[in-house]
Amino acid sequence: MRIDVVSIFPDYLAPLELSLIGKARQDGILDLRVHDLREFTTDRHRTVDDTPYGGGAGMVMKAEPWAQALTAVADAAPGPERRPVLIVPSPAGERFTQALAHELAGEEHLAFACGRYEGIDERVLEWAAERFDVRPVSLGDYVLNGGEVAVLAMVEAVGRLLPGVVGNPESLVEESHSDGLLEYPVYTKPAQWRDREVPAVLLSGNHGKIAQWRRHEQFRRTALRRPDLLESFDAGSLPRADRNAL
Ligand code: ADE
Repeated sequence: MRIDVVSIFPDYLAPLELSLIGKARQDGILDLRVHDLREFTTDRHRTVDDTPYGGGAGMVMKAEPWAQALTAVADAAPGPERRPVLIVPSPAGERFTQALAHELAGEEHLAFACGRYEGIDERVLEWAAERFDVRPVSLGDYVLNGGEVAVLAMVEAVGRLLPGVVGNPESLVEESHSDGLLEYPVYTKPAQWRDREVPAVLLSGNHGKIAQWRRHEQFRRTALRRPDLLESFDAGSLPRADRNAL
């Protein structure tokens, strides 16, 4: 997969050289490039922002540097067959979910446009739709100072779904949100720690009982911490054995 990130703070994306994503880049699974928006300005001060039309606080990112940067990114697309997806991190976007991470992991080319200040001139998004599938995406209902931290989260969530990135693909199956529920609690040795015991069923060796206990814990946790998830949960999506355990 090819990923291009455009930002005025390319150093913010340095953590993408570490850990599993860094290794995926070294292994050639992920071709990730970070571009400095200021490289696409033409004035002496390398200006990327200006005051908002209509007034109000803060500054707005100017259209032309973005058009130059995104043209360079689109021209570098790996193949003409599929349009790249341009993700614009914004608290005003659709919610980023595990389902969206899976969808994006199936793409050939993702580009991320990191806005700062009050955002990017809206005409850039309209113009970019000629060459990209443009998707404003929000990490959650809170406001960050810019898109960079959101890109770190989204690239990690998408990157770990690419084949070969996570060593044991089984670990992608039983994790929070993979089946619409939160993950069950986990324990490791020792079985007794500071007067606290591991739940006895996990030491029983009875795999059927363990699976049933874990599913039950998933529901208990989800009801307690994220009741909103249960409203849209479809029990029909569970394997038959798990449905019988409910
Ligand atoms: N930029 C600023 N706030 C954001 C958020 N909540 N999600 C994504 N990008 C953002």
